[in-house]
Amino acid sequence: MKVAIKEVLSEATFKLREVTDIPQKEAMLLLCEVLQKEMSWLVRHDNDEVEIEERFFSFIERRASHEPLEYILSRANFYGKEFFVDKRVLIPRPETELLVDKVFELAQCMENSHIVEIGCGSGIISIMLALGLPNAKITAVDISIDALHVARINAEKFGVKEKINFVLGSYLGNIESKIDMIISNPPYIANAEVLGIGLSYEPSLALYGGIRGDEMLRHIIDLYVDKKVKILACEMGYDQKESISKYAYQKNLEASFYKDLAGLDRGFWIKEKI
Ligand SMILES: C[S@@+](CC[C@H](N)C(=O)[O-])C[C@H]1O[C@@H](n2cnc3c(N)ncnc32)[C@H](O)[C@@H]1O
Repeated sequence: MKVAIKEVLSEATFKLREVTDIPQKEAMLLLCEVLQKEMSWLVRHDNDEVEIEERFFSFIERRASHEPLEYILSRANFYGKEFFVDKRVLIPRPETELLVDKVFELAQCMENSHIVEIGCGSGIISIMLALGLPNAKITAVDISIDALHVARINAEKFGVKEKINFVLGSYLGNIESKIDMIISNPPYIANAEVLGIGLSYEPSLALYGGIRGDEMLRHIIDLYVDKKVKILACEMGYDQKESISKYAYQKNLEASFYKDLAGLDRGFWIKEKI
């Protein structure tokens, strides 16, 4: 049966009104996906009557159950590029672009460096570094074989599969070669923290960092010291600056911090003392 686009959209918008601040836009995005049309086409043809595939209604049901739009559409934007994502990986967050910027800045003083990412997830960070630092050697580690699968799909998509060494393992895995820089956006939420319903769709392995939340970050600082790495850069929770600062100080290190666009403390870097 054919239905007018504006009627379908009005019904879908109503169903999504409690889930998102932009229900109409999301309903339109999902309809564009099913009809394989651009947004501008939809706006110009809202009086048209079209056959709507069952898939659209299933998308709306999923979104009405708070499933993130990115999982439904199997894609997410990061650093101006579109990455493949599904429930096996964390959805890229805009604040993580700041970590990539920070690494570009810190890597300027290094030639042919070996950069290791701990917890690569969908691969967004390592892939952006492979694209932006053509002379760097990049190793991307994750404890989840599922996440590595997604990261490889993305590396292939952006033509950098041969430039990144993907390793299944915990922290640095069994990497023997010298490491110049460690980067990580590890899980940093405290285990007891109750998360919003949307976050419950994301892998808990990618979210929870331990009883305090900063355990993985601390262990990464230990590895930075033990492996005599030159630079460490990590994303962290907005309330972890004091604890990371103190921990670094105990190790005779000085951590510098950066804020995200909301003005919250979001990450730190440590450089070897010269
Ligand atoms: C917060 S997600 C970050 C993913 C991606 N780098 C990003 O920024 O979107 C953390 C990732 O760390 C991985 N992870 C958790 N524990 C780990 C461990 N001990 N060693 C290596 N990776 C780990 C998870 O599987 C997950 O993919």
